[in-house]
Amino acid sequence: MPVLIPTNRETAAEWRNESTQKPPQRAVYLHECGADAVLKQAYAHTATVWAGDFHNAKQVLAAMKKRVRKPAAKQADVQTAFHNHRMRQAQTSRVLNMLAVEIGAGFALDLPRAPDVRGALADVYGEPNNEPFLLPLNQLLGFIGAHEWHKKGVFVPELDAAVHVPFGVFSPLRGEYLGLIARAPLPEPCESAFDIGTGSGVIAALLAARGIPSITATDTNPRAAACARANIGRLGFGGRVQVEETDLFPQGRADLIVCNPPWLPAKPTSAVETALYDPGHAMLKGFLNGVRERLNPNGEAWLVMSDLAEHLHLREPDFLRQCFQAASLTVAGVLQTAPAHRKAADADDPLAFARSRETTCLYRLKAVL
Ligand SMILES: C[S@@+](CC[C@H](N)C(=O)[O-])C[C@H]1O[C@@H](n2cnc3c(N)ncnc32)[C@H](O)[C@@H]1O
Repeated sequence: MPVLIPTNRETAAEWRNESTQKPPQRAVYLHECGADAVLKQAYAHTATVWAGDFHNAKQVLAAMKKRVRKPAAKQADVQTAFHNHRMRQAQTSRVLNMLAVEIGAGFALDLPRAPDVRGALADVYGEPNNEPFLLPLNQLLGFIGAHEWHKKGVFVPELDAAVHVPFGVFSPLRGEYLGLIARAPLPEPCESAFDIGTGSGVIAALLAARGIPSITATDTNPRAAACARANIGRLGFGGRVQVEETDLFPQGRADLIVCNPPWLPAKPTSAVETALYDPGHAMLKGFLNGVRERLNPNGEAWLVMSDLAEHLHLREPDFLRQCFQAASLTVAGVLQTAPAHRKAADADDPLAFARSRETTCLYRLKAVL
């Protein structure tokens, strides 16, 4: 159901937002104004719909970002630092999203010096209809950036090819964990595999490239399932990889079952974040508790997991081992890699200390007999 909000024009307008934030109470169309005026309206739950020059709108948004981003205070403990960091991110995003633009029929953005945004919006929403809607400028800029990445693709050295990932699907940009999938010894025999939570389809593609003849990949996110199908087809693995929009496991059993679940136990604030945050470890536990009965004899389950949650004190150090034991799984081997991401060295990132210690592991799990 579209969300309609009153405006200072004759009709109400549809408000679109990819975050789970409450919509504004009203929207006011303004030709142009300064960052302070937009912020003042934002704190009164009123969105400003920019009707002037597009580049000036971007400058006002940049000025708003400077005003609302406060430096993180030193926290007594890491868990508090993490929760405060997430809360600050949510508050900042809510305020910034109060500067919006109107998208017209056919996804047209009819403002002076505006770029052509039709391709970027079609990537997110599919076919346009003729109804105009309001969209936060910050999100539109995110969609434009994601569209450029989608076209360009992310090169995966292990595939010697790129995967193309649209907005809303987990991108293997930090792809160190793919090296683990490429080099872990396959169980014998290995005629079939499942890739649970396939995202872009990159792990399923890697398994196909390693010669596994029959692979089923699943994801609950329809955008991910469509993206995985497209990548699998583009890479020429369509005959060997099936993609299903399914919660966790497909029907049947397999010799190898791989899962790279979201790594942090926290509540997502948008559909995009469901690939990063797994509230209460629901997917992790669902995978571990269900995988044993889906493995063929001598089969293996591979779990890819970073220990960032342990460094942030969101999980006890022994948590995973306890989960393996409860699911009657034993560890046959562990492969490790250290993620090389820029944020670990970013002095402004309050979580840098944890990121700099992070290790990503591939756990090879077998059923306890
Ligand atoms: C961290 S991403 C990993 C994506 C991909 N496998 C990779 O390694 O690049 C986790 C994925 O799991 C999916 N997911 C979350 N809960 C799920 C569930 N219950 N069943 C299937 N997929 C799920 C998300 O939509 C997301 O695409």
